[in-house]
Amino acid sequence: MDYLKVIGKKNLKGSVKISGAKNAALPLLAATILSSNKLNISNLPDVVDINTLLQLLEMLGATYDKNKNFLQIDSTTIDKTKATYEIVKTMRASILVLGPLLARFGHCEVSLPGGCAIGQRPVDLHLKALEQMGATIEIKNGYIEAKAPKGLQGATIVFDKITVTGTENIVMAAALADGKTTIVNAAKEPEVIQLCEIIRDAGIYIEGIGTNTITIEGSKQQLLDMKDFTIIPDRIEAGTYLCAGAITNAILKVENVEPKHLDAVLAKFEEMGFGILKDKTSITILPANKVKPVNIITTEYPGFPTDMQAQFMALATMADGMSIIDEKLFENRFMHVSELVRMGAEITVNGTTANIQGTPKKLLGTDVMATDLRASSALVLAGLVADGETNIHRIYHLDRGYDKLEKKLTALGANIIRDKEI
Ligand code: EPZ
Repeated sequence: MDYLKVIGKKNLKGSVKISGAKNAALPLLAATILSSNKLNISNLPDVVDINTLLQLLEMLGATYDKNKNFLQIDSTTIDKTKATYEIVKTMRASILVLGPLLARFGHCEVSLPGGCAIGQRPVDLHLKALEQMGATIEIKNGYIEAKAPKGLQGATIVFDKITVTGTENIVMAAALADGKTTIVNAAKEPEVIQLCEIIRDAGIYIEGIGTNTITIEGSKQQLLDMKDFTIIPDRIEAGTYLCAGAITNAILKVENVEPKHLDAVLAKFEEMGFGILKDKTSITILPANKVKPVNIITTEYPGFPTDMQAQFMALATMADGMSIIDEKLFENRFMHVSELVRMGAEITVNGTTANIQGTPKKLLGTDVMATDLRASSALVLAGLVADGETNIHRIYHLDRGYDKLEKKLTALGANIIRDKEI
């Protein structure tokens, strides 16, 4: 297993190119199951979760050729419909093959994704919606056994909670259903929008893209004439690097981004006293004279994203005063708190609320453990400003969603070494 050694207090400067969005690429790779032809996909992030989903699609019978961030994939050759526990347990977003496999083949078995560090992560809303579209769903020996021998029927789906992958699963299922599906209380993250646009560009009538109510006219199991596409930039990766600039009070630019995807995050940087410059495809963060405390409540897009919560908690340790962060989406997304406290941060948690008393001078390097993807990046950020060395263990969590993070930070002036655990 690898770990990262971060030598703190280095000044950062310069610019970094942001990769394609992991959370856009995952549903889009699953959507290739619906395609009647081979596809060329550009700006694919080179991260473990993408390679895991490609492995799953290959196990099902797809073939692909990947060269760095460019992919040619042919999912027309898929002839199996069982997504096994071995692969699903390593990445719960494998649930995204459920909707497309069921819609295309009329049956499939997908291992129930386990929970993860940040929460129980149920998929009940995905299953209930598919049943409303005419599927029979049984849970047997840890597998979801889904059947719809005559194909899925359009239906009106009202999600009790806004679910990103739930919306994506139903959009893909509805694309091949017979009739009209209306999704009420749909997610409208940029990643959901790109999936809808790619399916619309394949000839499916979709209304309400980017709103909470999406209507899809299905193709009655006709495969889709999908067009080649380029993955949108990763707004969470961009936000993470902007946090690296903020926490080291540097001038730092992120390129190949969509600034409007980060409106809520940029507003919080400005609230804390940082300067923000934007042009069409880049954002620059400027130092704050004095870092002010901030109050954050995580919510669905376009609100402040839960995937930026841990990174802002690390940043809040630099503020002059008390910050309050309320995590509304996941019941256990404060695993990074105990690790930051080990570095000298003064953070107390009460239910879903964390109070962070800024200690600008006090973070000290030590051994810490990554627990989930975004917590890992928060520990790297804290290591950048801590006195001495911070060793971050279990960074396989980090590699799931960040494309060469330590290389990109080192190029900006950080001193980070990846080494093997003894
Ligand atoms: C997506 O997860 C993202 N993953 C997560 O990013 C992100 O944190 C999350 O959306 C919220 O924005 C991908 O897109 C691959 P949800 P998802 O369904 O779809 C509850 C990262 O760091 N819920 O929107 O799994 C659920 O428990 C990852 O890149 C149900 O109760 O999240 C949660 O409280 C972490 N039943 C809330 O809804 C369901 O059937 C939102 O979850 C589904 C969800």
